Amino acid sequence: MHTTEAFRLDGARALVTGASRGIGRAVALALADAGADLALSARTEAALKDTAAEVVHRGRAAYLVPGDFAEPAAAGRVVDAAADVLGGLDVVVHNAGVLPTRPDGTPLLVPLPRSAQDDWEHVVTVNLDATAALCRHAHRHLAASPRASLVLMSSVAGVMGAPMMEAYAATKAGQVSLARSLAVGWARDGVRVNALCPGWTRTDMTAFAQRSAPVSDWLTAHVPLGRWAEPEEAAWAALYLAAPAAGYLTGQALVVDGGLSVPDGGLAGIPKPPSPFAGV
Ligand SMILES: NC(=O)c1ccc[n+]([C@@H]2O[C@H](COP(=O)([O-])OP(=O)(O)OC[C@H]3O[C@@H](n4cnc5c(N)ncnc54)[C@H](OP(=O)(O)O)[C@@H]3O)[C@@H](O)[C@H]2O)c1
Repeated sequence: MHTTEAFRLDGARALVTGASRGIGRAVALALADAGADLALSARTEAALKDTAAEVVHRGRAAYLVPGDFAEPAAAGRVVDAAADVLGGLDVVVHNAGVLPTRPDGTPLLVPLPRSAQDDWEHVVTVNLDATAALCRHAHRHLAASPRASLVLMSSVAGVMGAPMMEAYAATKAGQVSLARSLAVGWARDGVRVNALCPGWTRTDMTAFAQRSAPVSDWLTAHVPLGRWAEPEEAAWAALYLAAPAAGYLTGQALVVDGGLSVPDGGLAGIPKPPSPFAGV
């Protein structure tokens, strides 16, 4: 296979969840650029239609399979609807996810002892329970494909400590663990399974931090590359994991975080401003 073909997905049938905006939208467009037809999922149909229009503009088919992963039955419905409209599934990028939020929609960043059990349960329901349900339903469709790849959108928070985001981090670590277990269990079915762990990426989810210069400067000071990631930088990694180029890669957590999770023991000498969250 020529190298450029190894990064192509011509004719692949792909489901992307959380495709209405942010990283998921960028993943959908990257897969379409590589030749895949798309089933697009999220709660907000108007925004999904916008992503679908961009996919069609790139010459590929796009179908809407909306659903709310806070509902226990939604993941199964979304997967089966996607397989139905596409005639099967070769690629699933399960990207939908949430941070705990306040009633006004801003992120709820508080240490675990001061957080509520309800907040924990909502994040676990959407991020982890729905992931397990989606994987359970996706298996039979992916096992029928000659080029199956499942990508779980985890986070660097799943592979390092994340105080004030304990519930989120636990669900993201759970996705990494699930990817490893499924990779081994499904390898002989021809299904590769990997987790993708982005760092701080410029999307709606992190708008609260982008808006505040002290918070943004503090966060990026801890990133060796010294900046936010753009959604496409996670999307291109997802494309790689989905493509034949990663044909011998399974059970891994690919971290795309600008070096954030690499311990340097302070030796790099990058100055860090005081935490804006001190005393929270
Ligand atoms: N941004 C970062 O810095 C970062 C870093 C590491 C990992 N991640 C992970 O990357 C993924 C995407 O994050 P993002 O930053 O792109 O977030 P985002 O901009 O907030 O987008 C989240 C996506 O998930 C969908 N979604 C949210 N709740 C849902 C629900 N209950 N049911 C179905 N769909 C739902 C949203 O669509 P609707 O609102 O229309 O449903 C949207 O399409 C998440 O899993 C996140 O944990 C993000």
